[in-house]
Amino acid sequence: MCLDHLIADAGDGERPWPQAGRERMIVPAPVGTVGTETPSREQESLARLSPGAVMMMGDNPALPRMPERPGLLDFFRCRFMGITERHLLTSAARALDEGQDERIVLACLLHDISNGCLIRADHGYWGAQMIAPYVDEEIAWAVKHHQALRYFADESVGYAYPESYVRFFGPDYVPPDYIRRDAEAARAHRWYMSARLVTLYDIYFFDGSVPIPDPAIFTDIIGRHFREPAEGLGFDGSPTAHMWRTMIWPNNFL
Ligand SMILES: [Fe+2]
Ligand SMILES: [Fe+2]
Repeated sequence: MCLDHLIADAGDGERPWPQAGRERMIVPAPVGTVGTETPSREQESLARLSPGAVMMMGDNPALPRMPERPGLLDFFRCRFMGITERHLLTSAARALDEGQDERIVLACLLHDISNGCLIRADHGYWGAQMIAPYVDEEIAWAVKHHQALRYFADESVGYAYPESYVRFFGPDYVPPDYIRRDAEAARAHRWYMSARLVTLYDIYFFDGSVPIPDPAIFTDIIGRHFREPAEGLGFDGSPTAHMWRTMIWPNNFL
């Protein structure tokens, strides 16, 4: 639970909720509902607009409140939910326990960041782009390429095609050409092993059998290898600030 959420909700009055006194309607992002049985609420919500009912913009009280200048760990504490939060923390903790380089630990911590609260499709590519302004190029590269490399075994390091992928996608799933192409390019690249290590620690614990590490154990590594902007992620004018803002305000209409 995000501490700022509790403070903000304690009625300190310093940060009023936006659009106060009105119903705030949420129209889910098309990318999350198109092709599903979830009906679009766009038409219905537009028809209901009135002085007392508006489209949500800004902080959603249903979510933990983010600090005004969020740091990386605030997204873990206030936005990333359930399986992805646990998965990123356990993956990085494992790499840390096994004495991997701190930059590999950070790559593990960030590798599925896009799944946390933004977008699942092509998550490696989105995640790499999101973090690129803040990390060494090799870390973003490893995050991008772990997605493609996950589909291809490398027996030299003990990496097999994931059994979970057989269950996720079916035994006859064949990854598309761009995944094959990018995996081949990654294998020939000098940073191959960085991305491959991310796949090695890319282990899911769906059943809660492994305790969730405290995100704070990564504070020092983040301090050394992730350039936290003084204005807060989302407000620093970087080329990817909008991605962080979208996670802060995922229910904004526009
Ligand atoms: Fe992934
Ligand atoms: Fe993963």
